[in-house]
Amino acid sequence: MPNLLEIKDLVVGYEKGPPIVEDFFLTVEAGEVLALVGESGCGKSLTGLAVLGLLPAGIQIKKGKILFKGKDLAGLSPREYVRLRGREIAIIFQDPMVSLNPVFTVGDQIAEVLCWHQGLSKKEALKQAEALLREVGIPAARERLKAYPHELSGGMRQRVMIAMALAGQPALLIADEPTTALDVTIQAQILELLAKLREQHQLTILLISHDLGVVAELADRVAVMYAGRLVEMTTCHRLYQQPRHPYTEALLEALPRPGKKTLTVLPGVVPPPGKRPEGCKFQPRCPGARKNCTREEPPLKEVERGHWVRCFYA
Ligand SMILES: Nc1ncnc2c1ncn2[C@@H]1O[C@H](COP(=O)(O)OP(=O)(O)OP(=O)(O)O)[C@@H](O)[C@H]1O
Ligand SMILES: [Mg+2]
Repeated sequence: MPNLLEIKDLVVGYEKGPPIVEDFFLTVEAGEVLALVGESGCGKSLTGLAVLGLLPAGIQIKKGKILFKGKDLAGLSPREYVRLRGREIAIIFQDPMVSLNPVFTVGDQIAEVLCWHQGLSKKEALKQAEALLREVGIPAARERLKAYPHELSGGMRQRVMIAMALAGQPALLIADEPTTALDVTIQAQILELLAKLREQHQLTILLISHDLGVVAELADRVAVMYAGRLVEMTTCHRLYQQPRHPYTEALLEALPRPGKKTLTVLPGVVPPPGKRPEGCKFQPRCPGARKNCTREEPPLKEVERGHWVRCFYA
C-alpha cells in the first residue's frame, strides 16, 4: 500500500523556545486506520494540527517534511491550506461544541460546507446534508436539519461533526480524541460508525487517542508517541502481542483486560517541552533503563519489517 501521509524528521516548536515535537516519523497508508497514542502532553494533537496547517500562534514547523500524496505540505501557502482542509483532509475534535457554530442550525452548517466544496445550490446542499445526517445514524434527519447544536446530545453532535467532515469527501480524516468526551456506550457507537464509513468511503483515518483500549477496536496499525517522539510503530496485533518499547509495555500494563486482576499504573508524568531529560526521554520512568540511556538518545530503528522502535534494548 502506498503512503497517503508520510511525516519525516518533523520538528514543531515554539517560535522562540524549545521543540515540542521532535525528530518525528510517521506513515499512514491509503485505506488504513492508524492510531496515534500516548499520554497527555506527548504532542499528538499538535502533530495533527501541523498536518492541517492549524498550529496555534507562536508554534511553528521548524524542520522536516509532511508529505501528503507525495507533496510536501510544510511549504503550502495559507490559501493552498484552505483548499486542502475539508476537501483533502478533514478533522474532528473531542468537543464538537467548540467546532460547531452555536447560532446556526446543523443543516445550514453542513450545507455551507457542501456549497463551498462541491458548488451545490442551497436547496441541493440541504438535501445532501439530510442524506449525510442519515448516513451518520441521526434519526429523523429531516427534522434534525433545523436543530441547533445545543439541542443535540454529545453523541449526536459528534455525528454531525463527522457528517460535516464527510461533506468535503476527504481522503484523510484526522479524528482527535473523537470519543473521549462521550460515555462508553456512545463511544462504542461512534467507533462503529467510523468503521462503517471507512469501509464505505475508503476513508483513511488518523485516530488520535490517549487510550490504547479504544483504538484496538478500529486501528490496523498503532504509533506510540512519547515526549514528542515516535517510540514504537507496528501493526495493532503485534503491538498488543509483542510490544518492544518499555513505554508501550507500560501503557498495556495499565489497560484493563478480561482475566487481569491487577493494573500497574506507570508512575510520573510526561516531561514538558524544555524540561525533557538527556538521553532517552523515557529513561527516568523506565524500569529497564541503563547507564547509556541517560547519556544518549536511542535512534528509531526498524527491528523487523514495518516494526519501528526507539530503544537500545528493544
Ligand atoms: N496552544 C498552545 N500553546 C502553548 N503550548 C502548547 C499549546 N498546545 C500545546 N502546547 C504544548 O505542547 C505540548 C503537547 O501538546 P498536545 O496538545 O499536542 O498534546 P496531546 O498529546 O494532544 O495531549 P492530550 O492527550 O492532553 O490532548 C503540551 O504539553 C504543551 O506544552
Ligand atoms: Mg490532544
